[in-house]
Amino acid sequence: MDISIAILEGDGIGPEITRAALQVLDAVAEKFGHRFDKRPAPFGAQAYFDHGSPFPEETKAICDGADVILKGPVGLAVERMNEIPPEHRPELGAILPLRRRFDTFANYRPVRLPKSLASFSPLKASIIGEGLDILMIRELVGGIYFGDKTEGPSTDMKLAKDDCSYTDGQVRRIAKVAFDEARKRKSSMTNVHKANVLATGRFWNAVVEDVAKLYPDVPYRSVLVDNAAYQLVVNPTQFNGVMLLENMQGDILTDQAGGIIGSLGLMPSACVGPEKSYVEPAHGSAPDIAGKNVANPYSMIGSVALMLDLCLGLGEEAQAVWDALFAVFEHGTTGDLPSEGKEILSTSEFAQRVVDKL
Ligand code: NAI
Ligand code: MG
Repeated sequence: MDISIAILEGDGIGPEITRAALQVLDAVAEKFGHRFDKRPAPFGAQAYFDHGSPFPEETKAICDGADVILKGPVGLAVERMNEIPPEHRPELGAILPLRRRFDTFANYRPVRLPKSLASFSPLKASIIGEGLDILMIRELVGGIYFGDKTEGPSTDMKLAKDDCSYTDGQVRRIAKVAFDEARKRKSSMTNVHKANVLATGRFWNAVVEDVAKLYPDVPYRSVLVDNAAYQLVVNPTQFNGVMLLENMQGDILTDQAGGIIGSLGLMPSACVGPEKSYVEPAHGSAPDIAGKNVANPYSMIGSVALMLDLCLGLGEEAQAVWDALFAVFEHGTTGDLPSEGKEILSTSEFAQRVVDKL
């Protein structure tokens, strides 16, 4: 296959883990006989300093013309971020516009920790049990992140406001994605919500329950988000299967999931739209470890696997990448995870091991 990929390496650890991911992508191309046409483009906080915009027009054109987009995390250290006007900071000026541009409403965030790697988790091995395999599906273009924002022009403002809304269509389409995935995996589907307090929560729930009628074969239940946060720690395996979350709750609980399996560096993701998709790690740009070649590239390499599978329909290639990633963990790991006698690998060494396994 001939595939064009826009490469937005981003800020902080973005360039290091993107380099690692591209090394793996090259190995996939060679092994399976594909041609990936890589088109780098500036995106994020550094892009603002270099080009006056965190999502320059040139980058938009490259994304528009590519089959799929590989995106690294964005954001610089706080002092540098404070030099950027709020509307040009990477979240408001780049990430949300990217999601809106391609309507990437379905955010797939797999949370996987096999029993053999239970020692990565800060939780007891008995709590990880036979292993964790939860597909968190987060709605990505609605809710409070995309609502109107009101804030005073100065620091002595007396009020700030974020609107939160969901339409029937927005909830219905993400619920269908979640139920379809649960059906495919022959697993349960857990709907997370806050219907006891929020109008949008009650609405979300009602629509999801309506969609559930189309999937009588999928075991379904719903759980309040605060209880879900608690249950994820005391008994996470009950969620093995699919979890459906709205935008902000999904943002928060997926980071918690990263903590449960040991590191945000174990959290890849795919952001899928009706016509175009992009993939990115679930975490940020980790300025505290940037430039040291110590970041865990699993999140970015796993995002490549999700891209191959969900965006390009290359399931066999994706499985080869997952197998290689988990094979590397048999003997080595990066410094963010407990080593338990395994060799500590740098970012580039980890990537090379994955390439060797491939
Ligand atoms: P963060 O997710 O960048 O880091 C949180 C902690 O996890 C840090 O201790 C970091 O070292 C560690 N970590 C994250 N990824 C890792 C990896 N691959 N390997 C090893 N350790 C890893 O969150 P933080 O520090 O709050 O945010 C930093 C910047 O990233 C901010 O500017 C924030 O706005 C931005 N951000 C960007 C996102 C994106 O591009 N989609 C998402 C979340 C935050
Ligand atoms: Mg987040």
